[in-house]
Amino acid sequence: MTVQRINLNAEEIFQKQWLTYQTLLQEDYLEHRTLYEAVQSIILDRARKHPLRILDLGCGDSDYIARALEAVGGASVVESYTGVDLSEPALAISESNIHRALGSNDKATWHHSNFVTFSNSCQEDFDIVLMSFALHHLDEPSKGALLKQAQRVLSKRAGCFILVDLFRQPDESLPQYHERQQEEVTSMWTALSTEERSCMTDHMLKFDMPETHANMEALACAAGFTSVESVKEARNELSMVVLLKV
Ligand SMILES: C[S@@+](CC[C@H](N)C(=O)[O-])C[C@H]1O[C@@H](n2cnc3c(N)ncnc32)[C@H](O)[C@@H]1O
Repeated sequence: MTVQRINLNAEEIFQKQWLTYQTLLQEDYLEHRTLYEAVQSIILDRARKHPLRILDLGCGDSDYIARALEAVGGASVVESYTGVDLSEPALAISESNIHRALGSNDKATWHHSNFVTFSNSCQEDFDIVLMSFALHHLDEPSKGALLKQAQRVLSKRAGCFILVDLFRQPDESLPQYHERQQEEVTSMWTALSTEERSCMTDHMLKFDMPETHANMEALACAAGFTSVESVKEARNELSMVVLLKV
């Protein structure tokens, strides 16, 4: 694992939020189960030609991607798995989830790194770039710049970008989106304590900047992707899976 130095406060924040995030995964509040049915189908389809080189930006603990890989054949469909994240506790769990899915970690690499820095300097080629509930943390120009880097590392292998993320409805403003999101948290996220819920809603108001599908399509086309397709929407209409082809 490549380790970059980050300050202690940032690590403490990631550690604290990671424990809460694991409850979100266990309770399926972000609807990973539904959304990853689509991710799994895309991987299965792409793996028909040859084993895949997969880059997972903001991989977290890789819980759902590991389940998807295991379900479609594990090591037989994977040439390599590269996970990138700033959270050390999450990366440690990722290692054990990927080990379970692939039978060993011989084909896997992790980078404790900012995914913007990593993608800017990455010199490897990939079949799939996955970004799941992570791109919405960037502002619009940074999203565009990251999509350009993703397109670059996918272009030689005619790969695809699987974007699982929060999306605003057409014509929905960011404050309107946040209001809808806060209603969902208040009414549905009942397994969290009041303190955890308020920590999450604070985080969402500060850091969640989802695009509309139309904005994302424009950014993806400007980055060189030739096709942008919504393949699955969550029940709560807060997130979806979008497939970008080079
Ligand atoms: C909401 S979690 C998603 C984790 C996982 N992909 C999933 O779908 O469950 C967002 C992840 O992105 C990571 N993250 C956020 N900003 C990052 C950045 N700039 N560079 C690297 N990782 C980042 C966080 O540490 C966290 O693990």
